[in-house]
Amino acid sequence: MRVLSFFKMLILGLLSIAIVPTAAANEAPAVYAQCIACHGDNGQGNTALSSPAIAGLSESYITRQLNNYASGKRGQHPEDVSGQQMVMISKPLDLNKDVPALAHYIANLPQVKAVSQVSGDLKNGSRYYHAKCGACHGGQAQGNKSFNAPKLAGQHSSYLSKQMRYFSSGVRGTHADDKLGRQMAMMAKTVNEKELKDILFFISQQ
Ligand code: HEC
Ligand code: HEC
Repeated sequence: MRVLSFFKMLILGLLSIAIVPTAAANEAPAVYAQCIACHGDNGQGNTALSSPAIAGLSESYITRQLNNYASGKRGQHPEDVSGQQMVMISKPLDLNKDVPALAHYIANLPQVKAVSQVSGDLKNGSRYYHAKCGACHGGQAQGNKSFNAPKLAGQHSSYLSKQMRYFSSGVRGTHADDKLGRQMAMMAKTVNEKELKDILFFISQQ
């Protein structure tokens, strides 16, 4: 009996060491409750609702996008129905309190497994990607903070494809103060549909 309870205590002790610090390290701020319906408990997104995965995007990118929606740099175009949803969500957020807490929490969520419905030529995809995208988004599409380029790996292909269409058709990345969006809009115009299909397939394999 004494031996058994000693082991029980030992196990409980080890469990609390193992569990408590990780739980405390990344606790959802209360305001994240507003995000779950579309982006999910783990920031995995929801392709049926056209909601992107947000888990593991960088703090700076999340912060910039929430600010962009709130300030009218993104999601203003009349055709941008999903962007308009995020404008409505972002406007009431406290930019000094809610946004940093959300960005910190979401950036520290583990990357999720993306939904990919694209198929393509991996070899061509890799070639086009490295020629046209990798310099900014990183060799494995992991993102590159020094160029402000977000991670694309782990993102649902349908979302990436839609954003590319938005950039090239002027739905996203046209606002005068959206320098980085304008830069990406220029890049989006350099790929044709066949190249993009292969590039998206390459990204889905990262
Ligand atoms: C009603 C559904 C809905 C809710 C609720 C919602 N989102 Fe979104 N979110 C979307 C959709 C749809 C998009 C894609 C919009 C677009 O195409 O610009 C998006 C885009 C984003 C992006 C940009 C992602 C990227 O890769 O550029 C961020 C960041 C984000 N949401 C964070 C949040 C946070 C934080 C909350 C809670 C405060 C939230 N969202 C609540 C639907 C939602
Ligand atoms: C000159 C650097 C640069 C190059 C080259 C570039 N990008 Fe980007 N890309 C960016 C930046 C910066 C952003 C963020 C824009 C913003 O803040 O709205 C971005 C955003 C994106 C987004 C939106 C991601 C999201 O989560 O909403 C997609 C998709 C994307 N890029 C795909 C590509 C693809 C595919 C290529 C190659 C054809 C490419 N990019 C080439 C800099 C670049």
